[in-house]
Amino acid sequence: MNQKGNFIVFEGIDGSGKSTQIHYLIEHLRKENVPCYATMEPTDSPIGSVIHNIMTGRIKTDNKVIAALFAADRLDHLLNEVNGLAAKVENGTTVISDRYYFSSYAYHAVDMPMDWVIQANEQSAQILRPTVNIFIDVDPDTALERIAKNRFERELFEKRSRLIQVRENYLKAFDKLKDIENIVCIDGNQTPEQIADQVWAAVYPFIQGTKGEL
Ligand code: ADP
Ligand code: TYD
Repeated sequence: MNQKGNFIVFEGIDGSGKSTQIHYLIEHLRKENVPCYATMEPTDSPIGSVIHNIMTGRIKTDNKVIAALFAADRLDHLLNEVNGLAAKVENGTTVISDRYYFSSYAYHAVDMPMDWVIQANEQSAQILRPTVNIFIDVDPDTALERIAKNRFERELFEKRSRLIQVRENYLKAFDKLKDIENIVCIDGNQTPEQIADQVWAAVYPFIQGTKGEL
């Protein structure tokens, strides 16, 4: 197959329903015989595991260090020799990622200038820009209720006031980059099935030509 794969990214505040939607999308893509691979950030690489330890409070460091670690984790996610995403997409696999650089713009711009964060991720943007960024938009209180039902450990970023700022930063980043990024916003307060239908409508036009041989 000569055709490149797509790179579909899900964005949203914690508890917005990204992983739920990724399950639906993978099922749909498999039915259409599209070779696909699901992944997430932070990753489970050594850099990602430092990030997980920071998020759960086991390691303490400065916010600028955290932002830089996420940028490094992302570059490794793209370029590492074993399962780097850039090569997968190049070889025709459609990659679906739970978070990418808009998460950095939204979460780290709470503590530092957004343009700094965008600049720190410029290499990733040059290497692989998403075919589409799908933003599942939910109200922070709804997201927190969902999280409270399912998680025992609240991570650093899941505090209410922070989530409100993060959502606002997402909207600000989308507005800033609307001319160079493909962004689809979906109302995440609908049922999972309604959201999945809208995700499919956003993705379907891109998968023509990427289907494997039957
Ligand atoms: P994320 O990956 O964005 O953190 P999840 O997909 O894990 O979010 O969803 C968080 C919780 O909310 C899960 O318990 C999930 O079952 C539930 N959930 C997901 N989507 C919806 C929805 N559209 N309506 C109600 N609950 C949902
Ligand atoms: P995690 O529990 O793995 O995922 P989710 O809440 O999306 O199901 O948490 C990832 C956390 O990391 C989340 O709070 C967002 C944050 N994050 C950043 O702060 N910067 C980033 O660049 C990325 C990718 C995530």
